[in-house]
Order: sequence, then C-alpha cells, then structure tokens
Amino acid sequence: MHAMILAGGLSHERDVSIRSGRRVMEELRDAGVEVSMHDVDHDLIPALTTGSVDVVWPLLHGASGEDGSLQALLEVLEVPYVGTTSQAARVAWNKSVAKAVLARNGIKTPAAITMPQSLFREVGAEQMLDSIAERLGLPLVVKPVRGGSALGLSIVRTRDDLARAMVHCFAYGDMALIEKFVEGTEVAMSVIGSGAEARALPGVEVCAEQGTYDYDARYNPGRIEYFAPARLTEEQAEVVAETALRVHRTMDLRDLSRVDIILDKEGEAQVLDINITPGMTETSLMPQSIAAAGMPLRELYYAIVASAAA
Ligand code: DAL
Repeated sequence: MHAMILAGGLSHERDVSIRSGRRVMEELRDAGVEVSMHDVDHDLIPALTTGSVDVVWPLLHGASGEDGSLQALLEVLEVPYVGTTSQAARVAWNKSVAKAVLARNGIKTPAAITMPQSLFREVGAEQMLDSIAERLGLPLVVKPVRGGSALGLSIVRTRDDLARAMVHCFAYGDMALIEKFVEGTEVAMSVIGSGAEARALPGVEVCAEQGTYDYDARYNPGRIEYFAPARLTEEQAEVVAETALRVHRTMDLRDLSRVDIILDKEGEAQVLDINITPGMTETSLMPQSIAAAGMPLRELYYAIVASAAA
C-alpha cells in the first residue's frame, strides 16, 4: 500500500500542517506502509495521477485543506482518501453554518453573532461595538468564521478590547464570529470511525489558566497544562463523549475528527469548534487522546489508511 500524505499548502496553518504530516508519516513508516509526503502545489494533480497512490491522507489545516476544496479534487480524480467528504467539510468549516446545523439538532453552542467586515465598516465600529456588547454581554470570544489553531482569536473582557479584537480577526478573514465566553471545563474530544461505528476517545482537558489557548500555547510545550484523560466524573465524561459522537454523526464526519467542548457550570456540553483535520503534532490533542486510550499511534494510523484504501 502506498499512502500519500498531503501537507503544507498556503494557509496560515502551513507550518502546523507540515509538523502533523511528518509525525503521521513517521508512524506509518514504522507500521510498514510505503508513505510519501507531498506539499500542495501545482504538481499535485500529476502526483496524484501516477497510478501508484493507493490512498491519500489530507493533513492540510486551514482553508483549502479543511474547506472541502481538496476533498472535491480527490473525489473528481477518484483517489481514495482519509477523512470527511467535500460536502460535509464545507459545512463543518464554516463555524457559523456548523452552529446552525448543530442548533437544529439540539446540540448547544455558545450564543453568537456573525459580522462581515464590510458591515462593520459601513455601520461604523462604535455603533457595532455597542450593539454587540449589549446583545451578548461580556466577556466574549472573537474568532474568524473560517479558520483554525486559534489564529485571529481573542478573548474580550472590556468593551475597549472589542475593537482591537475585531481588527485582529479581520486580518485572518472577512467574517467574524463573536461568541459569548462560557466559563467551564474545556475538553477536546477525539472521535474515530464513521457513522454507527464511530467512537469517542478519552477527552483531553485543556487548562489555559495562565492565558489563552492561543497559537503559541498550542505548539510550544509548557504553556498549557493538559490532562489526558480529562479530570471528569463518569457522568461528565459520558456527557462530553455523547456530545462529540452526536456532532460527528450529525455533521457526517468520517474516519476522524476532534470536537472541542466546554462543559459549562450547569454541566451542559457546549460545542466550541469542530475539526475535520485535527492537528497531529507532538503537542496536539488528538495524539494525546489516542495515547490515553492505550492505542499505539502507528496501529491506529495504519488502520485508518487501510480502511480508507479498501
Ligand atoms: N486546526 C488545528 C490543526 C487544530 O485545531 O488541531
């Protein structure tokens, strides 16, 4: 079996993607798979159509890797691949659309509004800021509607911080999602498999008490404390696992996903984010979940590519 990992690309998460790609490549090699890694560039189509690739694992984070475009290309070329289809990826990638789908299916997410940059400019920042703070209260979380790795994300505690947060967010995309900040325990839930066969792995608790779980904190060890498995009661662990599975199935996610959840003070699970291509770096959350489940990474990665190639 020849597996090709696609990594890199031109998104803001290019470096993370290359790190994820290398880690997965090493594990697959150790599992005896013939594996190559390809950066996504103009040679992509020739590389995919040599006839020697049995399966592709798209490990591109950010736009063009997670927005369904790459998956659509693989579908047109009829190349088997790991992960969620183009149709489902498109829905999951847009946080605003995903929230609407989850709400319709009775899955809670923090109260939010979306704000295109053009409207923010037209109506005037001052008026917009008043209306946002009045509707949602403080603190808030501002992030791009389409994006990952907390790039462009800010936690806003005062009205004065909101303008800066919006400008920062618009540097990463033209649409902002402004969510009510929910106090509670943050748990990253990894799910493997598809449909009725999907199962949730032990959650990883993310303790960012010294700051925000931002880009630097995610990829530089020591800034964040992780607990894998999360320090939850049996009942809480069931609530987050059930929520993650419902998200995975409702959004029609395939093979693997990570659902970031906040278990609020009332014990309810609210979904913060959905990742169809979770980070697989040394500091990423999904590999920690896999280890907490007692699974050797190479065995699971081998099973994932073998099932996608079949
Ligand atoms: N978007 C990155 C890779 C993550 O959340 O893991």
